[in-house]
Amino acid sequence: MTALAHILTLLTAAAAPVTALTPLYSTYTFNPLEHLAGVAPYFEPQDPPTSPDPPRGCSPARAAYLVRHAAIYANDYDYEEYIEPFLSKLENTTVDWAKIPSLDFLAGWKPPFSDKEVELLTRVGRLEAAQLGVSLSFRYPGLKTPSQVWTSSAERTLKSARALARAFAVDDDQPIDVSSIYESKEAGADSLTPYKSCPAYSSSAGSDQSDEYVQKFTAPIAARLNSLAPGGFNFTADDVYGMMELCGYETVVRGSSRFCDPDLFSPDEWLQWEYSADVQYHYNSGYGNPISGVVGLPWLNATAGLLLSSPQTNAASDDRKAQDLYISFTHRELPPMVLVAMGLFNNSEFDGALAEARINDTMPLDRINHRRAWKSSHVLPFLSNIAVERLDCTQSYGFDDGEYYRVLVNNAPQELPACGDGPGQSCSRQGFEEYLRTRAELFSGFSDKCGVKYDNSTDTLGIYSRSK
Ligand SMILES: *[C@@H]1O[C@H](CO)[C@@H](O)[C@H](O)[C@H]1NC(C)=O
Ligand SMILES: *[C@@H]1O[C@H](CO)[C@@H](O)[C@H](O)[C@H]1NC(C)=O
Ligand SMILES: *[C@@H]1O[C@H](CO)[C@@H](O)[C@H](O)[C@H]1NC(C)=O
Ligand SMILES: *[C@@H]1O[C@H](CO)[C@@H](O)[C@H](O)[C@H]1NC(C)=O
Ligand SMILES: *[C@@H]1O[C@H](CO)[C@@H](O)[C@H](O)[C@H]1NC(C)=O
Ligand SMILES: *[C@@H]1O[C@H](CO)[C@@H](O)[C@H](O)[C@H]1NC(C)=O
Repeated sequence: MTALAHILTLLTAAAAPVTALTPLYSTYTFNPLEHLAGVAPYFEPQDPPTSPDPPRGCSPARAAYLVRHAAIYANDYDYEEYIEPFLSKLENTTVDWAKIPSLDFLAGWKPPFSDKEVELLTRVGRLEAAQLGVSLSFRYPGLKTPSQVWTSSAERTLKSARALARAFAVDDDQPIDVSSIYESKEAGADSLTPYKSCPAYSSSAGSDQSDEYVQKFTAPIAARLNSLAPGGFNFTADDVYGMMELCGYETVVRGSSRFCDPDLFSPDEWLQWEYSADVQYHYNSGYGNPISGVVGLPWLNATAGLLLSSPQTNAASDDRKAQDLYISFTHRELPPMVLVAMGLFNNSEFDGALAEARINDTMPLDRINHRRAWKSSHVLPFLSNIAVERLDCTQSYGFDDGEYYRVLVNNAPQELPACGDGPGQSCSRQGFEEYLRTRAELFSGFSDKCGVKYDNSTDTLGIYSRSK
């Protein structure tokens, strides 16, 4: 384990609940921080627990990463909608918290951030991004250090990219350039935030469906908290939701949070919170939104193009363009959309012919589908990352020597649907090209399908081939 990984582990361990009395033979453990969807500090869920090592006989020749920014103080919407109203009520209340078990910590509690800090990267965020830089240098000792990384232009993505670049650079005299790509609403598919320039995408998609389940699961929790605090705080569904979000946000600011305490919210309650987020992202940027794959395809296609192209042989060509490793930072919406374009974490994958039409039935709004593949905590925690690797394989017993392609999500190799004819979870070059054609057939036509009305739209992502 690296020193940084160790620090992060300590950090997470400090926040993990300690079960006071574990009965003999019980091995049950539960860490709410691994069920916090978009508010989860980075972790590697091993979903599936496939080995991240290259398959036998293979070594990485190139790789590309799409990375969500690292931990922030709070997301604007979460703050305004849930956290700020709860904080206001807290400021005004006459309830004597000190006398109430499991809420007594509220007596001396101060919010971990002010409204000025909302959306900014935290120290833990910088550490997470730096750690990924170091981890990538370990993962790819044979690849050239990149000369450039790409990021969308918001401060939290830019600072994440800078933290990674600084940690990855050989030394301060050979810095890695950080290219900022403006988060334009009129860039077509040509940005790292293409959902912003897609009129058919709405950032509030999924709220209604998610809210239905939120009302259901928070009602008994609010009733319980209200019976504990009879002075009349009047805990609402939004308060409960915000308190559970604070477990994640306070942890990435202070290193721990009493809102994560097991006697405040039980494991089942955390699983309900997580499911409400999974419903939201299913309809927002997952398989329940027909536009998801359309917005995710351009990154997949451009990335595949970079990896499939033959090695740069022309010494006179722009050296900067020929990299071994392409790293790009974005926001929480894009990684799930790319996963849909790829066909990964599809709840219906093994359900056969009519599966596609039934995808929404896999996310009922009155109870949890515990067997779902779509878990937002595994798909979009802070610093969530999707990798596509090109592997050179020789002596992979039973497979021809040659080029193979592999996808990893948060360091767990994933077999692509109908593209698993290589060693490990990899796919042959020919198979990968065929796979890309079928994905493009499903999802090409960004401007048209997004209903773009502005001029100069484009259906492809060109940022990697333009010189700075
Ligand atoms: C606090 O309570 C007072 C009196 O009821 C009210 O006028 C005020 O708006 C409340 N402030 C907040 C922040 O809720
Ligand atoms: C509690 O809050 C809800 C939502 O704001 C409100 O409708 C209800 O009247 C409040 N109940 C009491 C007892 O204050
Ligand atoms: C995919 O990328 C190639 C270049 O690598 C480009 O020619 C093609 O138009 C792109 N297709 C789609 C559907 O984006
Ligand atoms: C999800 O899986 C089903 C069943 O294999 C398939 O029909 C559907 O096309 C898949 N969805 C996507 C977006 O790949
Ligand atoms: C799933 O529900 C969304 C939102 O209502 C809808 O747009 C989409 O078409 C549905 N998907 C299918 C396959 O019916
Ligand atoms: C579209 O591109 C053309 C040619 O580059 C340019 O003249 C025009 O101003 C652009 N239009 C908009 C709305 O940006």
